[in-house]
Amino acid sequence: MERILIRGGRVVNADCSEEADVLVEGGLVRAVGPGLRPASSAGLRVVDAAGLLVLPGGVDTHTNLQFPFMGTQSKDDFFQGTKAALAGGTTMVIDFAIPQKGGSLIEAFEKWRGWADPKVCCDYALHVAVTWWSDKVKEEMKLLAQEKGVNSFKMFMAYKDLYMVGDPELHAAFSQCKEIGAIAQVHAENGDLIAEGAKKMLALGITGPEGHELSRPEEVEAEATQRAITIASSVNCPLFVVHVMSKSAAKVIADARRQGKVVYGEPIAAGLGLDGTHYWHKEWHHAAAYVMGPPLRPDSTTPDFLMNLLANGDLTVTGTDNCTFDICQKALGKDDFRKIPNGLNGLEDRMSVIWEKGVHSGKMDENRFVAVTSTNAAKIFNMYPRKGRIAVGSDADIVIWDPKATRTISAKTHHHAIDFNVFEGMVCHGVPVVTISRGKVVYQNGMFNVTAGEGKYIPREPFPEYVYKRIKQRDQVCQPVPVKRAPYVGKVISLATVP
Ligand code: URP
Ligand code: ZN
Ligand code: ZN
Repeated sequence: MERILIRGGRVVNADCSEEADVLVEGGLVRAVGPGLRPASSAGLRVVDAAGLLVLPGGVDTHTNLQFPFMGTQSKDDFFQGTKAALAGGTTMVIDFAIPQKGGSLIEAFEKWRGWADPKVCCDYALHVAVTWWSDKVKEEMKLLAQEKGVNSFKMFMAYKDLYMVGDPELHAAFSQCKEIGAIAQVHAENGDLIAEGAKKMLALGITGPEGHELSRPEEVEAEATQRAITIASSVNCPLFVVHVMSKSAAKVIADARRQGKVVYGEPIAAGLGLDGTHYWHKEWHHAAAYVMGPPLRPDSTTPDFLMNLLANGDLTVTGTDNCTFDICQKALGKDDFRKIPNGLNGLEDRMSVIWEKGVHSGKMDENRFVAVTSTNAAKIFNMYPRKGRIAVGSDADIVIWDPKATRTISAKTHHHAIDFNVFEGMVCHGVPVVTISRGKVVYQNGMFNVTAGEGKYIPREPFPEYVYKRIKQRDQVCQPVPVKRAPYVGKVISLATVP
């Protein structure tokens, strides 16, 4: 275990910033304050952070590493994906264990753990998907929450015949989430309308990537978002809408929050940094690289709009949905956009893209940046203040950040397993200089010091206070009560006499 003194930086948390040193020992933050003088300098590594920011390492709420999907498997595995994460200043990812319909949730969870544990270079956790419904699924959700550290479950409203569940299943799954103290997550797109829209595009002769967006326009996302919120609210279950990609869906979430509903929206790096005009690019491989669900939107004002909502609190956390496929994999759909594997990169670049488009642009300050890149995620998923904060006792997951330096994103220099980067050429202020994971310097000035399997699985307790305080209070005060009235004693018609 390293001993590290981060000297002379500006420590930024979600609620305040201070000029302070940070002492790291045994994987934890041991002291934070100006002019720290450790009792012993034995084995002490001093990192000069003068003129730099010292931030909690990023928490990416949404990755799909080595995900078997659409006939192939996403390229970034748990080693390469988490290594890329560290290069970008992200020190924890939350991935998804996704069973097939009819499959066991626990088996899926164990399978993903078996893939991740030997490979991860940073800490990780797992959401689990509910892709079908039965008493067994209900029981397994409870076991996962009580014994396996899972407090979030994703339901797909899209991917018809693969993962999609209907309203009755959503209702049942949300009710169970509420019962066991979990957060319900939704992929909010209307899968039936997508299937019909896709048939229509193909009938029109549209087989290329533009057909992907045309068959699932914004309202398909907004409708599902509204429906999920309505169902979750009917059972007083907290809802987390993953990959919010459109202005319409974001507005639905903002309205619901204004009505006091317990709902959180997760825009992703790609949606905050890019628009969907790429689907109309003349080169097929370029257009296909951006295919993901829900799609990026051709309305070029979308990224700015989503960033504004993220800055003002209507949207809460950021992920990436990092699910990378190379060009040859994407080419599975060369004649039919429905077969292009859905997914793109973001894990390495999320922090820089948000700094550039959010902080450098003047939409949010450094504290809000920390809130939306780590703290809020840690609070919602019950890992705070272990994660998402630099304070005594917190895990020493830290990124030393140069807000003035710039870097140009490129597939030539990134650490993903694919040869395309959707942010290619984007110049970003905000460069991670040093990344510390669990008290070890794992990345410094472009050099890695990582070991596969060094990251740890982080179990998460159910009933996060940040989410469930309001839910519990509502249970007490928002129950409908019957009107007390004298029984009706008058005549009642006989149905038999009605003609
Ligand atoms: O296109 C996407 N989003 N691929 C990953 C699977 C998912 O829906 O998150
Ligand atoms: Zn999804
Ligand atoms: Zn995903």
